[in-house]
Amino acid sequence: RMRERNVRIMLRDRLPRELFNILLRAGELARDVGMEAYAVGGFIRDILLNTPNSDLDLVVEGDGIAFARTLAQSMGGRVRAHHKFRTAVVILENGQRIDVATARLEYYEYPAALPTVELSSIKMDLYRRDFTINALAVQLNPANFGKLVDFFGAQRDIKNRVVRVLHSLSFVEDPTRILRAIRFAKRYNFRIGGQTDRLIRNAMQLDMIPKLSGSRIFHELNLIFEEEHAVDCLRQMRDYRLLEAIHPLLTLTPAQENLLEEIEKVRDWYRLLYLDEKPRNWMIYLLAVFNGMPEEDILSVCTRLNLTKRQSSDILTLRTQTNETVYRFKMWRHRGGPVSELFFMLEMLPLEGLLFFMSRYNQEEVRKSLSMYLTQLKGMELDVSGRDLKGMGLEPGPLYGEILRKLRAAMLDGQATCRDDQLALARRLAKDQRYIGLDAAPR
Ligand code: CTP
Repeated sequence: RMRERNVRIMLRDRLPRELFNILLRAGELARDVGMEAYAVGGFIRDILLNTPNSDLDLVVEGDGIAFARTLAQSMGGRVRAHHKFRTAVVILENGQRIDVATARLEYYEYPAALPTVELSSIKMDLYRRDFTINALAVQLNPANFGKLVDFFGAQRDIKNRVVRVLHSLSFVEDPTRILRAIRFAKRYNFRIGGQTDRLIRNAMQLDMIPKLSGSRIFHELNLIFEEEHAVDCLRQMRDYRLLEAIHPLLTLTPAQENLLEEIEKVRDWYRLLYLDEKPRNWMIYLLAVFNGMPEEDILSVCTRLNLTKRQSSDILTLRTQTNETVYRFKMWRHRGGPVSELFFMLEMLPLEGLLFFMSRYNQEEVRKSLSMYLTQLKGMELDVSGRDLKGMGLEPGPLYGEILRKLRAAMLDGQATCRDDQLALARRLAKDQRYIGLDAAPR
């Protein structure tokens, strides 16, 4: 154990004030009910790395669910308890989530005449975790507030930037940790420790991955696809032969790698538009990984990952739609088509499709068109509605859609940009097509 260290000042300086106060308050409450409370895991790791992380995980020596109720009562919030795991989530009124777990007091019976001993339960709790960098705790009770609890050399490993398991059975106990090791290493630009690397290769030899459920693998992949360095993670997965262990048809060819790199650029580009809609990244990445594969192979991988029927068919649809869009976009540009045509073409694609389309076809022209679509065209509303058409005496029916579409086209192409122009055009369209006798219609 390293020399004792108190990180109170670091907590105060690096955390938002509200979050720091929650820690203080949690410590006082723990003291009042006679428990020990700790902030643990990724939250503490990220404090030391000075990386924002608001996922607060607490462990208490005592009854975690009871403590969660105390927290909620005192700070205002609601509790969701999971009795089976003796854990609870507190959701405060400001939306802050606090996960509370119970560190069991474990008693070890010695044979013969030796007494039963109580092992520090926080130590057991930390020992069960994946990597040393995640096995840190900070005491919250006022008497020791801010005191770092580091049994396994986490501070040293953070300093040396290395991902290291706590014991040699870690990957056998939970093979998804292989994916987690890669994810943390790439996220923080750490290396995977020598012994840990050997243990990963050993677990691969033992065929641990094929035994994992599709849902668990997909869950981890999803987390990887949310990372900044997702492509680096995929490369490292390939190097460990993880991809083929997940499914023999999963590969990472140079062409797929290029496409993935484009996806990263497109993600950065999209982020800079500061739009509210967040893409489902897993769809975009899977589309790239599936690029060039026949449909039945894709479905086979989707089945392995336990995707729903809906998710698999969404992927296939998106793939077809994107191919069509690439083709139609080229035609549109070649002909110098109107803005409205661009709109109707892109409107067909969900955001993931748009971003994948752009990754497939990342040129200045496409970037310009897409940002115009996303930041301007998409939000433009017509100044007339079906109600106006009804007001003209037009019978409701499929013609409404047709007329509104034409009005939208005219608006997008700058030919009917205000309500009066749009109403006039609507009347003309209606009359042209003899939907109504306009003479009889009220003005
Ligand atoms: N954990 C583990 N084995 C796993 C998953 C999680 O030991 N297969 C432990 C880790 O010690 C981790 C804690 O459970 O710190 C919480 O898990 P999670 O929220 O996934 O980890 P974070 O470290 O907070 O990761 P992230 O920053 O990605 O949220």
